Amino acid sequence: MKKIEIPSAGSYDKLKIVECEDLTPKAGEVVIDVKGIGINYADVCIRLGVYESAKKYVGWPITPGFETAGVIKEVGEGVTKWQVGQEVVAFSFFNGYASQVCVPETQILNVPPQFSLMQAAGFPAVFFTAFHALYHHVVLRPNSKILVHSAAGGVGTALTQLAKMAGHKVVGVIGSSHKREYLEQFGPDKIIDKSKEDLWKEAEAFSPEGYDIICDANGYTTMLDSYKHLKPAGKLLVYGAHSMLSKKGGRLNYLKAGIGLLKTPKFNPFDLISNNKGVIGFNLSFLFGEQDLILDCVSKLEEIFKSGKIKPIPITEIPFEEVAKAHQFIESGNSVGKIVLKI
Ligand SMILES: NC(=O)c1ccc[n+]([C@@H]2O[C@H](COP(=O)([O-])OP(=O)(O)OC[C@H]3O[C@@H](n4cnc5c(N)ncnc54)[C@H](OP(=O)(O)O)[C@@H]3O)[C@@H](O)[C@H]2O)c1
Repeated sequence: MKKIEIPSAGSYDKLKIVECEDLTPKAGEVVIDVKGIGINYADVCIRLGVYESAKKYVGWPITPGFETAGVIKEVGEGVTKWQVGQEVVAFSFFNGYASQVCVPETQILNVPPQFSLMQAAGFPAVFFTAFHALYHHVVLRPNSKILVHSAAGGVGTALTQLAKMAGHKVVGVIGSSHKREYLEQFGPDKIIDKSKEDLWKEAEAFSPEGYDIICDANGYTTMLDSYKHLKPAGKLLVYGAHSMLSKKGGRLNYLKAGIGLLKTPKFNPFDLISNNKGVIGFNLSFLFGEQDLILDCVSKLEEIFKSGKIKPIPITEIPFEEVAKAHQFIESGNSVGKIVLKI
């Protein structure tokens, strides 16, 4: 089998393809011959050496990758739910950038009926993130107003779809005009193109009283304004800080990151009480031990996909060998939907 290994933090040249022994499943595990691998912005953070859970749980060298789709090659002792030859989707805590993955049987899902195998490779991370955000962290009141930053990205598309499916009003923010047409197909109530429009003036015009939920992975560039635009009892969901990183060059710009860190707002709990608002941070990759939450995402999302109310997220396929191109693309901030590596 082959896998992509990153020996130490750095640019695209650190994404090395290495040959290694085929995998053998232990009891309760399944080995999958991988056909597609979902790329996530987090993989860029891993390569740059700024992803905390990668440093804590794996170290260097590391094979990134949270999601794959393929065909079951072998099942370990005691596995009864899955059979050799079945097409499936798997989520893994790292090690997904490989031609084979070995995961516990509980980390496997059926390919949703409306998804191709390649589209399926790109759904677990972003839909788990969106589901976890909207259903494990907040109580969604009927007709909530939800503002989603980077709404045409992977997580943004999943958030937009789940929120619309549940009948809420969604404002999707995009950073470049070419993303508007893409986002329109998922039915947000308003799109704000912050490259051309005044983001907060437009957001206020749509909802002068503010928002119930704001989903923000930008970091310091919008975090404080997002907080200010919450309604009483509103919640700011924070799950990333991509504006601290560079869009090109492939390297960590320490000055940019340092300035971003210094400018990141600090929230005083007494202010949260008197403003009657909440700030919630989370990271799925630290959910290793919280199997109940993961399994809840798996079962509820399987039901949601079966209902046919969710459209597959459009993908850009890039060959496995061109992984550097995939990293460059997601890092540029220009991609829409999901990028999937094809083996
Ligand atoms: N905490 C968690 O559990 C968790 C899980 C999954 C993802 N995430 C985070 O959620 C965010 C989205 O992840 P994704 O994989 O779905 O990526 P994505 O949204 O497909 O791509 C990232 C988007 O962020 C914006 N962006 C990227 N680089 C930027 C920069 N340097 N400055 C400003 N804006 C930039 C761009 O959108 P616009 O220009 O249109 O805004 C870009 O399309 C990432 O920050 C990721 O780390 C967190």
